[in-house]
Amino acid sequence: MPASPAGIIRAYAIMPPVNILGIETSCDETAASVVADGRRVLSNVVASQVEIHARYGGVVPEVASRQHLLTIVPVIEQAMVSAGVGWRDISAVAVTNGPGLAGSLLVGVNAAKAIAAARRLPLVGVNHLESHVYANWLVEGDPPAFPALCLIVSGGHSDLVLMNGHGQFQRLGRTRDDAAGEAFDKAARILGVGYPGGPAIERAAHRGSASLALPRAWLKGTDDFSFSGLKTGLFHLVRERGIKPGDPAVADAAASFQEAVAEVLVVKTVEAAERLGVRNIVVCGGVAANKLLRRYLIDKSQVPVFIPPLSLCTDNAAMVASCGYYRFQSGRTDDLNLDVVPSLAIGS
Ligand code: KG4
Ligand code: ZN
Repeated sequence: MPASPAGIIRAYAIMPPVNILGIETSCDETAASVVADGRRVLSNVVASQVEIHARYGGVVPEVASRQHLLTIVPVIEQAMVSAGVGWRDISAVAVTNGPGLAGSLLVGVNAAKAIAAARRLPLVGVNHLESHVYANWLVEGDPPAFPALCLIVSGGHSDLVLMNGHGQFQRLGRTRDDAAGEAFDKAARILGVGYPGGPAIERAAHRGSASLALPRAWLKGTDDFSFSGLKTGLFHLVRERGIKPGDPAVADAAASFQEAVAEVLVVKTVEAAERLGVRNIVVCGGVAANKLLRRYLIDKSQVPVFIPPLSLCTDNAAMVASCGYYRFQSGRTDDLNLDVVPSLAIGS
């Protein structure tokens, strides 16, 4: 007898969730997470190395990869325990294989391969930049609608990317020199406000006003960015005015710098979104944690804006598991020859 519609609906209702174990080690966070059906975070464990690298004022690649080696197994174990799942509940292992630091990526990719081989699980290599975008699928409510314009602003990238569907990315613009996060980190060093630079500049800016003139690179007619002129402008301003770390003027310099970065990112993103007629703007990456940038984007855009909660802006493995889920569902898995690609571009 043919199944009744009610029978079909009941059969779908008892389908077990597709749980993906995500692993992320592209820079200085060792992270593992279990996500159900690409959207429901069952666990999200991040072991940050920030304090270890703080004394050097930046990430030391050798130190980062050695630290990943020490923490990767306990972090994965904790992600499984916190999610309350066993290996039989996992459908696939997703891992960041680029872009990032080669030695760091290798630790995560080899851990994922070992699990895939030992547990006979499918392996899914994930692009770190694409995974940042998927942080916006991990919040309750309707996910972003396509086509969406993605602003990916992290320590290594400032990309404007058109997303036409799951896994369909077309890069429209990128930074020609420093990434937005890199610019924050360098500005923090110039102003002596601490590490990591983004949050340090944000804290310092809170006490100041954006009253100092700094240059903005508009690169009209393109969707590219440039922040190195702004950084050099800050350097000269600090030197000419004799601003020293700890001076009250540091707060005004930090606020002026933050204002310039946020203004360029927001104006260029909103212009591109209107030109392309996208349905949503999707913001992600560590710099998306910046409160001024978040506020300006929401205030200035007519197109609805998605920005992840702060904890999902910086590197984590829940976004990797979500991105991996959509790749897995479209049949794009990898074999055990999966290798790291430190300079992997988005859309490749
Ligand atoms: O995405 P992410 O965690 O790692 C990379 O993939 O690069 O981004 C790290 C970057 C750093 O440059 C950091 O200074 C910046 O994000 N960042 C911020 C803030 N929090 C982190 N920049 C501005 N404001 C923040 N609140
Ligand atoms: Zn990142």
